[in-house]
Amino acid sequence: MAEELILSDNLSKEEKYQQLIPQIKALVEGENNEIANLCNIMAALKHTFNWLWIGVYTVRRDELILGPFQGPIACTRIQLGRGVSGTAWHKKEVIIVPNVDEFPDHIICNSASKSEIVLPIMNSNGDVYMILDADSENLNEFDKIDEKYLSEIIEIIKSLP
Ligand code: SME
Repeated sequence: MAEELILSDNLSKEEKYQQLIPQIKALVEGENNEIANLCNIMAALKHTFNWLWIGVYTVRRDELILGPFQGPIACTRIQLGRGVSGTAWHKKEVIIVPNVDEFPDHIICNSASKSEIVLPIMNSNGDVYMILDADSENLNEFDKIDEKYLSEIIEIIKSLP
């Protein structure tokens, strides 16, 4: 297993993802504990992009419960359909929020968060069992590039034993 991420200087966002993703694949290879792998994936993303917060919530009945993350402490439970994450779960779609103040039901876990992306993670039946949430201190941080590459990271998460 790799001990350290290797990222060149002065990369674009897309290039960072392209260097990071093979390293994430190598990182989880040979480890069969999902929590351990999720922790390292979140650490790798936080280290690479320095977002305010990156983590997962897992679905338990009608709630999302906080899972492995990096960043400041966060809300532990979110109801179905509430906030950006509960809405992404309910609608089964990626939500990019350029300015959280303009999202009607945004849940403030940390007042420093200005923009957000949430991606639902579906099992083979099409049921959402987890969501991936990233928060930034900058407005307009997330776009289609993040959606594309975070979706690739979701494929890695789905393949975890
Ligand atoms: N802002 C999110 C809550 C989760 S945190 O940002 C970690 C939301 O509205 O769902």
